Amino acid sequence: MNHETESTPLATLPFEGQTKAAIFEALDTFRSGDVSWRSGRMLGYTYNPGADPMEVAHEAYMQYLTENGLDWTVFPSMHKLETDLVHIVRELLRGDEAVVGSCTSGGTESILCAVKAAREYARAHKPHITQPEMVLPETAHGAFHKACLYFGIKPVMTGYNPQTFHADVDAIRNAITENTILIVASAPGYAQGVIDPIREIGQVALERGVLFHVDGCVGGIHLSFMRRMGHDVPDFDFTVPGVTSISADLHKYAYAPKNISCVLYRSKEIRFHQYFSNRRNTCYALVNPGVLSTKSGGPYAGAWALMHFLGEAGYRRIVEKVQDATRLLVDGINAIEGLRVLGNPDMCMFSFTSDDLNIFELADRIRLNGFYMQPQFTHGETPANLHISMNWGTSDVVDDGLAALRKSVDEVRADSGAINLTAVRAQVQGLLADLGPGAGDALRDLAGITEGGLPERMALINSVIDALPDELAEHMLSSYMNEVFV
Ligand SMILES: Cc1ncc(COP(=O)(O)O)c(C=O)c1O
Repeated sequence: MNHETESTPLATLPFEGQTKAAIFEALDTFRSGDVSWRSGRMLGYTYNPGADPMEVAHEAYMQYLTENGLDWTVFPSMHKLETDLVHIVRELLRGDEAVVGSCTSGGTESILCAVKAAREYARAHKPHITQPEMVLPETAHGAFHKACLYFGIKPVMTGYNPQTFHADVDAIRNAITENTILIVASAPGYAQGVIDPIREIGQVALERGVLFHVDGCVGGIHLSFMRRMGHDVPDFDFTVPGVTSISADLHKYAYAPKNISCVLYRSKEIRFHQYFSNRRNTCYALVNPGVLSTKSGGPYAGAWALMHFLGEAGYRRIVEKVQDATRLLVDGINAIEGLRVLGNPDMCMFSFTSDDLNIFELADRIRLNGFYMQPQFTHGETPANLHISMNWGTSDVVDDGLAALRKSVDEVRADSGAINLTAVRAQVQGLLADLGPGAGDALRDLAGITEGGLPERMALINSVIDALPDELAEHMLSSYMNEVFV
């Protein structure tokens, strides 16, 4: 966390407006402590297609900033932009004319929409289901759990192969019950960047007559171009029988400015159940395709402009460069003693672990050495690891990244004060055994969480969270956030 923003007093609304210069100076200062994505050293969170495409996207975004997608009868431009974007994505995902979709504000909204559609579809076609269930591999994104919570659906978790990270198809088959409304798989899963066996799962979905959503939020666009370029990509799209919906984010590997994603359905009949209309109050009739109602036209125009500026050729150049860089980085990491990449990543996202170093200490060191790699926690047989998502904007810094990583590994090895994960685990177990549900404060102390901000180094807090059972870790994360925001 940026300690400068922490100590800056909170704003009160000035009575007289400030000058433009003062405002932009302040805005610049606010982000002085952010990790700089522009340098290409932030290996996640942002997707940078290069200066020229970005300029075009930003200009288009600003032109449509105030257009409102709430009502496309008043803003036909919004209808045009959305139908064009869905049509482009439908072609990439090899959907036929029956395939339809919507634009949403991101992967999470696309997933919420797909789950809501599945629940309503089940209400219409399987009215006996009163306690809906969703079959969800443990490698699927947390947004599905959020959807379960929001829509009152029971997540039925299934396992994965801890070497390949593929969802376990037999476990999925066995988890389906009379109450199953949806099966989920990923192309690829975020954590290790591995595509699930979509064909086999599609077969199960068909046999059991259950809807099947493929989460292509990160992979939908990038993998489609890889396939068109002749890479060996397992089928994950609408050519696979049994797949009934796919999410594909434009604000990730289509490089569009945030917030925009697409969710596509095998048929209008399914999409209908995503929609919400309301005319039972004194207001205007509400006709919403997704979660949002009022929405800026900026992301739509930004995405449309960017995709037309790059064209297929532009995307192919990007994908080739990113895949080359990813290969170098994966090989380079595997060549560093003590580090190993997990599984066999299918595109440009992956994670690596260490069998002898505390990976959270390594994350801190890498950050001090100028790079950001994202910590991911231990899950079952999957060790804690660092995640990397490559994109065009990070493809030129592979050598620097590997040098920083080697330096960081040496530094952690040489640091006699480095936090020992096994010792932290023992301390956490001890506190939980002694204090039970009342261990919260002691755990927060142990993690170094103080009021008003994150500790400067994250290794300790990450090590403690890693050692906690899921529910307690989630509670600690939410209560921490609850304190940090006004
Ligand atoms: C596979 C996958 N699905 C869904 C999401 C959620 O997307 P968003 O952050 O755009 O809501 C992500 C985000 O990284 C993801 O990787």
